[in-house]
Amino acid sequence: MSNNLPTYLTISTDINRDLSDAIESIAPDKIAVLVDENTRKQCLTLVNIESDLIIAIQSGEKEKTLSTCQQIWSQLTSNGFTRNSLLINLGGGVIGDMGGFASATFKRGMAFINVPTTLLSQVDASIGGKLGVDFEGLKNHIGVFQEPDKVIVYPKFLDTLPKRELKSGFAEVIKHSLIRSESQWDYLKSKAFRELNWEEIIPRSIVIKNEVVNEDPLEKGVRKILNYGHTIGHAIESHFLDSSSPLLHGEAVAWGMILENKIGVEVGKLDQEVSKEIEKYILSIYDLPEKVPDYQSLKNHLLQDKKNDAQGIRFSLLTQVNSCTYDVLIEDVILKKILK
Ligand SMILES: NC(=O)c1ccc[n+]([C@@H]2O[C@H](COP(=O)([O-])OP(=O)(O)OC[C@H]3O[C@@H](n4cnc5c(N)ncnc54)[C@H](O)[C@@H]3O)[C@@H](O)[C@H]2O)c1
Ligand SMILES: [Zn+2]
Repeated sequence: MSNNLPTYLTISTDINRDLSDAIESIAPDKIAVLVDENTRKQCLTLVNIESDLIIAIQSGEKEKTLSTCQQIWSQLTSNGFTRNSLLINLGGGVIGDMGGFASATFKRGMAFINVPTTLLSQVDASIGGKLGVDFEGLKNHIGVFQEPDKVIVYPKFLDTLPKRELKSGFAEVIKHSLIRSESQWDYLKSKAFRELNWEEIIPRSIVIKNEVVNEDPLEKGVRKILNYGHTIGHAIESHFLDSSSPLLHGEAVAWGMILENKIGVEVGKLDQEVSKEIEKYILSIYDLPEKVPDYQSLKNHLLQDKKNDAQGIRFSLLTQVNSCTYDVLIEDVILKKILK
């Protein structure tokens, strides 16, 4: 299994050893570390490396912008960083996506190492080379495809991650299992959430994402199955974004998987029993709001989906555990029926 891990990725049991090995092979002239206030407190304290600069930003998706990149570029510039320097991005998906993008573009590209510290970033955001920032309210609107020089996944960082964030990342683990691994799905179902062994789950989940990405690095075809749960999930996430109780990404995706499965049943692609079993499992883990947001609001968000084309809204739908199809055009009447 470990053969199918990305070549640039190490699963670590000793973060300090693996990080210093990676730094040694890059041999940078200067080192900066990008953190937010939480990863500075919880993760940087576990890391023993000599750096020339700590760049600390505020946590949160709303900071994932070009103006934060500007702060990063300014600090690198005023501290004499060059194209031969290194940025270590220590944090969740926000730090990894944005720090990676800032590195890939600084002086046309300096080295960077991503050290993901959330479950979501360990099993998802760190694999596949997508880097970027949000722009004018549009998620990941500005960015590039580029693999980091190194990704070091140290599951022990999850010890301090708030449980709600852990469960949010877990939605991607469920997704990976459903689209590609019946054995992982069986394993998940066989344990209570608190009994799950992350050291086992994380590498298996990374391998699944990596295999799909390698089959289609630029998302022209099969990589779209990774969007399972995400078409409705993103619409739900956007709907709740400005509410008093926003949902985390994975919570919205978990809900999205339930609703997209219902669409699959409706169009005859998925067995109803399988859909019900998945729904029951997801509802046993997440506290989802009782009511689906109103149809018109969801529809407006669905129309913004990057995967749409002139013909309409396209979905990646599960057809059975272990198998997912993509680019399925769903008619408005069906959407209306399920989402109402
Ligand atoms: N590049 C990709 O392919 C890809 C894939 C999926 C998601 N993403 C992106 O990832 C981002 C979401 O990532 P995320 O869920 O990791 O969110 P995040 O980076 O905002 O981290 C979540 C919260 O956890 C805190 N935190 C991080 N590690 C911690 C630790 N070990 N202990 C305590 N607190 C910790 C952070 O400070 C933050 O408050 C989104 O911007 C999304 O677009 C990218
Ligand atoms: Zn996701």
